[in-house]
Amino acid sequence: MLIAGNWKMHKAAPDEARALSESVVDAVGAPEVQVAVCPPFTGLAAAAEALDGAPVHLGAQNMHAEGEGAFTGEVPAGALRAYDCRYVILGHSERRAYYGETDDDVAEKARQALRRELVPIVCVGESLEERRDGRAQDVVARQVQTALDGLPIGDPSRLVVAYEPIWAIGTGESAEPEQAQEMHAFIRETLIEQHGESVGGAVQILYGGSMKPHNAEALLAQPDINGGLIGSASLEGESFAGIVEAGEQVT
Ligand code: PGA
Repeated sequence: MLIAGNWKMHKAAPDEARALSESVVDAVGAPEVQVAVCPPFTGLAAAAEALDGAPVHLGAQNMHAEGEGAFTGEVPAGALRAYDCRYVILGHSERRAYYGETDDDVAEKARQALRRELVPIVCVGESLEERRDGRAQDVVARQVQTALDGLPIGDPSRLVVAYEPIWAIGTGESAEPEQAQEMHAFIRETLIEQHGESVGGAVQILYGGSMKPHNAEALLAQPDINGGLIGSASLEGESFAGIVEAGEQVT
């Protein structure tokens, strides 16, 4: 079980990132599940200091697929490792929608993340229109297949997948637990076809999209929901810790 906070473009200044990291550490105590926070790049150094020695991992929200070069404004995987990042979120729907990231881009980044010993949290999920048209599974299958095909994952702990239906992100309306479970089971089957039972059967699949302390337990109790990727509820130590506690209840 992994509960990861995606701070998006919030708490980006060092002082803000430090304060929220400290409040998360206080609020989660000694968690019985894996916990991570993913601040903006500019908050990573301060967050890393605040998390030093605490049972909370650090992650980033994006990276470039190349190791270095003439890519103004971009950040390579090696630099994230220098801040002790364990995770990197890749292919979030906001990056796909606003910055034109494609499944192929996500595939290249995932490959580079693995090379640099980062654990990619690869995000997939359909829009409301795609769901209404009955195409949700096709869209998610394409995203998983393209982003993860041929990815050299010998150990299931080297990869995390996050199912984030776009219509549930930031809307306050999460997917129903059974609805999310149905898609998670489908993603699980796809991962098993791609990577075999021992890897595909054990990769953590997180749910993201308006997960809050009040709805987390029902979602996390589903057999193929192995954690959460939390946006707005991760911006306060108490609410984030409420979701961590829900995870502890069902494990
Ligand atoms: P939300 O965001 O929890 O605010 O819906 C989740 C995400 O985008 O990762």
